[in-house]
Amino acid sequence: MTTYAIIGGTGLTQLEGLQIHRSVEMETPYGVPSAPVLVGEYAGREVLFLARHGHPHRLPPHKVNYRANLWALKQAGAEAVLAVNAVGGIHEAMGTGHFSVPHQVIDYTSGREHTFFADGLEQVTHIDFSYPYSEPLRQQLIAALAAEGYGFSDFGVYGATQGPRLETVAEITRMERDGCDVVGMTGMPEAALAREIDLAYACLALVVNPAAGKSSAVITMAEIEQALHEGIGKVKTVLARVLAA
Ligand code: HPA
Repeated sequence: MTTYAIIGGTGLTQLEGLQIHRSVEMETPYGVPSAPVLVGEYAGREVLFLARHGHPHRLPPHKVNYRANLWALKQAGAEAVLAVNAVGGIHEAMGTGHFSVPHQVIDYTSGREHTFFADGLEQVTHIDFSYPYSEPLRQQLIAALAAEGYGFSDFGVYGATQGPRLETVAEITRMERDGCDVVGMTGMPEAALAREIDLAYACLALVVNPAAGKSSAVITMAEIEQALHEGIGKVKTVLARVLAA
């Protein structure tokens, strides 16, 4: 049976219902991951869990050691990664509380350690990244969302921005022209690093606010936290359904 890992984003620093068997403090050649890797049982199945921003939540998106996180999960035995990401909605379907299962990504981040293939190489390596997300994993998330009757889109171009500030209206307008449907700060380099070490990877994106300029109101942390609070139960239900299947 495939060993799944869940990477919990903002609002999901812990997974209630996870019966923790072990909490493993790991070291990798790339440093220490955001938190110990939790090994436990969820929905009747062994699963690994890692809080992307640490537990408690303390690492902003540009400070997350994505390489250490992915490496640690691989070392702990993960074969497939379900990543949970809070996003802003750009496409008109992507209202607050809606889910997207992205099928593509555009990387607008900068200055992040974004590859395992940098130093001490025997040969230069270029991974194929035409389709950044695992289609079988995407379909598992889509089936679970449909079974629960939650509002979701089975597509999404995820625009990954550097943060930690939110975007300007002009930036979102440009991203929309580029074809982005949702915007978040943690989708990359995580997806690419997973591909580099052969981990199947898909993203469950929860829209927690309209992106800049998509509503007349300013975006507040209170609004984002409220949407996370309301949506995170659904996230856990979807994850449980995927794991139980
Ligand atoms: N922009 C970038 N990242 C985000 C947003 C946003 O509007 N909402 C949640 N994560």
